[in-house]
Amino acid sequence: MEAKIIDGKLLAEDEKEQAAWQSEWLKARNVYPCLAVVLVGDNPASEVYVRGKIRDCTMCGIGSMNIRLPAETTQEELLAKVKELAANKAVHGILVQLPLPAHIDTKAIIDAIPPEKDVDGFSPVNIGRMQIGEPCFVPCTPAACIRMIEATGTEIAGKHAVVLGRSNIVGKPVAMLLVQKDATVTICHSKTRNLKEICASADILVVAVGRAGFVTGDMIKPGAVVIDVGINRGADGKLRGDVDFAAASQKASWITPVPGGVGLMTRATLLRNTLEAARRTVKE
Ligand code: GUN
Repeated sequence: MEAKIIDGKLLAEDEKEQAAWQSEWLKARNVYPCLAVVLVGDNPASEVYVRGKIRDCTMCGIGSMNIRLPAETTQEELLAKVKELAANKAVHGILVQLPLPAHIDTKAIIDAIPPEKDVDGFSPVNIGRMQIGEPCFVPCTPAACIRMIEATGTEIAGKHAVVLGRSNIVGKPVAMLLVQKDATVTICHSKTRNLKEICASADILVVAVGRAGFVTGDMIKPGAVVIDVGINRGADGKLRGDVDFAAASQKASWITPVPGGVGLMTRATLLRNTLEAARRTVKE
């Protein structure tokens, strides 16, 4: 049977509708939610992402500051900008778009974002809090993956979840969130042996390797839920995921498409985090 599609567009629309309500609620309490987005240089993919994030904010009544800095910006200049935003009470969330130019120490920049404004959830404090299950900002892509699994009505507890990829932004945090939901989790990476067999034993398969069509149909357990985080642009200009969608949808019970899947929900989660950062400043 053909897999059912986990519709990122539909889920993100729903999320945005709630975000718009939440903005109104905040404004009625004199808090005007605002996200500052910092983009250094002119990476075309980053430009597209940043434009999307700003547009989402506008649609949901969230203010934004679109800060564009030239590729030659020095470490000190960028640090000064982040500190200025950190001190600005009108700014609730700070997002520094990655990757940064090679001459910039990314870690030092992320460390300068106060945890309460770190709506990306990239700072060590938020990562640590997530690890021990304390309230925190969860990185947007991992949170989106979990919400998409839950949207299928699939029970996560007790399932074997396999995560392909161990990046700090997706693989590691999504694995941690799945553990917190009581899944049995296996993290696979480039050195993993028997990759095919491990994947084929997954009830839930989350793929974030950044290689188009990496997961083939024979790596999917019949009835699995497949979450494809990959966004790869082919030579034909088309976007493709890390999963061979046509083959996988013959085996899976549910699958996310690319485009129209995790990416849209990731953006919607950023709105949620920004609104939460703003809500914490409401005087009760
Ligand atoms: N680059 C790719 N994805 C992301 C993200 O989620 N946040 C930031 N800041 N940069 C990114």
